[in-house]
Amino acid sequence: MKNFYFYNSTKIYFGKDEINKIGKLSKEFGKNILLVYGKSSIKKTGLYDRVIKLLEEEDINIFELGGIDPNPRIESVREGADLCKKHNIDLVLGVGGGSVIDASKGIASAALYDGDPWDFYSYKVESKGALPIASILTLAATGSEMNSGSVITNFETNEKNGWGSPYTNPKFSILDPTVTYTVSKHQTGCGIVDTLTHVYEFYFSNEKSYLNDRICEAIMKTVIHYGPIALNEPENYEARANLMFSSTLALNGLTGFSKDFEGFNHITEHVLSAYYDIAHGDGLSILVPHWMKHILSEENTEKFYEFAVNVWGIEPEENKAYVAKRGISEVFNFYRTLGMPLRLKDIGIIDPDFDLIAEKSVKGETLGKFVKLTKEDVKHILMFSK
Ligand code: NZQ
Ligand code: ZN
Repeated sequence: MKNFYFYNSTKIYFGKDEINKIGKLSKEFGKNILLVYGKSSIKKTGLYDRVIKLLEEEDINIFELGGIDPNPRIESVREGADLCKKHNIDLVLGVGGGSVIDASKGIASAALYDGDPWDFYSYKVESKGALPIASILTLAATGSEMNSGSVITNFETNEKNGWGSPYTNPKFSILDPTVTYTVSKHQTGCGIVDTLTHVYEFYFSNEKSYLNDRICEAIMKTVIHYGPIALNEPENYEARANLMFSSTLALNGLTGFSKDFEGFNHITEHVLSAYYDIAHGDGLSILVPHWMKHILSEENTEKFYEFAVNVWGIEPEENKAYVAKRGISEVFNFYRTLGMPLRLKDIGIIDPDFDLIAEKSVKGETLGKFVKLTKEDVKHILMFSK
């Protein structure tokens, strides 16, 4: 196990009705709150009214920025930062999925910066601070509720970039599984695929860490077990609770200590999203199985064998290559069972510019740590995902 630094500053309040604490927890940061939320879900479910009431009970001044898009735009970050500056905001509270929480992180950082927020996401400047951020998570997927990352899109330049700073971990996040009962089948599937992919990004690594691999396997097995249950019984508390905290743990440092981030799937998915504005989970569902198929080789058969046996429960056999392939088939089957897309055409992407996507994904000579992929490799994976 190689040396690592591990720190996570976010406090988690987990479980049914923990949301009732939002007023008191928020007030610790001051009187002025910017409430950030998405298009319509929290108003439809009643969560918006509940949160407003709890904040008002503590005499908090509420300012609002609703309408955050899935694949949040840099324009929203600019708008939110202006509101923070104008109203002396003490806390940016995101109530929603990863998009809302990511936008909140960008807003809180840009509130303390005089230039354009895209400077952070284009890696031109380092952040010197951020307003305190907090979240009420409504969708189990990204892990944004307990990490510093945020992913923002600039559709003018067709860039979707991830960025974070030491100041962008939420101070606290409230995770009440019951608020995820209303998440659609499709978004539940996207969340399951995203969670699994966060684990794959570290599990498929050339760094050896027995403990890390077993933690990864526990999360994957939990998600594979409870994913279909949540789809069939959206109000199954145990299923929603297990999925919710699995998604948090998958990208809060617990799966990543002592490992390199593999990278291909997330980087190429972000390029696809920046051109086609697709759901993150859809893009991953299409790329991941084809990536696995493409990279399987004699050198990494052992890892895929371990994955097949330990995660998918395939009987061990002497012919490890055969077992490894069966594991990858299970990934295809599982995503199909979830109703997730396996081809670009399934989500309406017909005849994409493979050269462009590959070019934008592979910035240097190669992309990926577990298996280094050239532009030709990436094109190959995309062609097979057609
Ligand atoms: O906009 P509203 O009306 O709220 O609806 C949302 C949206 O349409 C809906 N939704 C959320 N909670 C709901 C609900 N519908 C019913 N009931 C609820 N309780 O779901 C839709 C998708 O929401 P979104 O926040 O976009 O989904 P997700 O959480 O998957 O976030 C995706 C974004 O996060 C980025 C992705 O790239 C993408 O932009 N990521 C962020 C990461 C991070 N910060 O660490 C890592 C990830 O790898 C990822 O890249
Ligand atoms: Zn992801």
